[in-house]
Amino acid sequence: MPKAVQQVRIAIESNTGGSGKTTLSTHLAYALGKKGYRVVLIDLDQNGSLSLFSGKATTPEKRQSLAIVFEQDFKGDYPLLPIWNDHIDTVRLIQGSAPLEDVIRSLHLYERKYEVLRDRLEDYPLDADVVILDTPASLEPMGLIALAASTHILVPLKPEYKDSFGAAGMVNWFYQKIESLRLRPQPEILGFVPSRVNVAKFAAHRNLLGIDKQGKPRTDIDLNETIPYQLQQMGITCFPPIKESGFILSASGTGLPVHLYQPGDAIVRSFDPIVSRIIDILRGK
Ligand SMILES: Nc1ncnc2c1ncn2[C@@H]1O[C@H](COP(=O)(O)OP(=O)(O)O)[C@@H](O)[C@H]1O
Ligand SMILES: [Mg+2]
Repeated sequence: MPKAVQQVRIAIESNTGGSGKTTLSTHLAYALGKKGYRVVLIDLDQNGSLSLFSGKATTPEKRQSLAIVFEQDFKGDYPLLPIWNDHIDTVRLIQGSAPLEDVIRSLHLYERKYEVLRDRLEDYPLDADVVILDTPASLEPMGLIALAASTHILVPLKPEYKDSFGAAGMVNWFYQKIESLRLRPQPEILGFVPSRVNVAKFAAHRNLLGIDKQGKPRTDIDLNETIPYQLQQMGITCFPPIKESGFILSASGTGLPVHLYQPGDAIVRSFDPIVSRIIDILRGK
């Protein structure tokens, strides 16, 4: 068992649906669990795709979901469900799905509504090295609740022009909310992850990421306009892109990470740089 010097809690957030949040959550969970780290995945989304991608297809009852953690009389009995346990015994899931609808409706009853999960995890720490918080596209309220409970933030980003908020807008949103929620210590932005990238097919991906069809840096455009450059200017890491992959798409439907669904494929390795960074933090580097 590798030893972690601190618990890392990563909020996976972005303001667009389908940007690969749940995909990133499950794949990081598996890769870290495979290395022997104890991982808990928490689903703050009502749509249930994290359960589906983890091989748990049925909608949980309230007492088997995160909703129970929001109950006033919660005493630390987290509903932890082992996943992929034919392969590894280190990853557990707290399901979200439909029971979260009531939670969101009654959030106004809490004095510290955005800090409920943060407070629970402080009062009743999870026995885990890594906690991954998967969120819906609506940043409020669940994105804020995850942010308040996190030590780190990771942002998957589908490169598109339609998003006027942009990467810089996301970064500013985090900084503003970290201030207004007075989070101490402040969660750190681990980085952005361009996701579902297909540079062979989409000129927009080549332009926004500043890479050519072979994935090499472009020399024919002003790189100042690209997302990685803009992030770098703000001191934020942009991880190498996760390519669009039919294996990822199919794997999600079977409830397995591509590591298990198609172990030999190169797509498996595209998560490695993020996993390495997280392991460095776990080791105190
Ligand atoms: N790199 C990828 N290649 C192909 N399909 C992907 C990739 N990443 C995600 N998908 C698929 O796109 C859909 C949306 O991804 P998901 O992770 O659920 O996004 P989000 O959680 O941000 O809404 C899912 O069907 C998923 O399987
Ligand atoms: Mg999702």
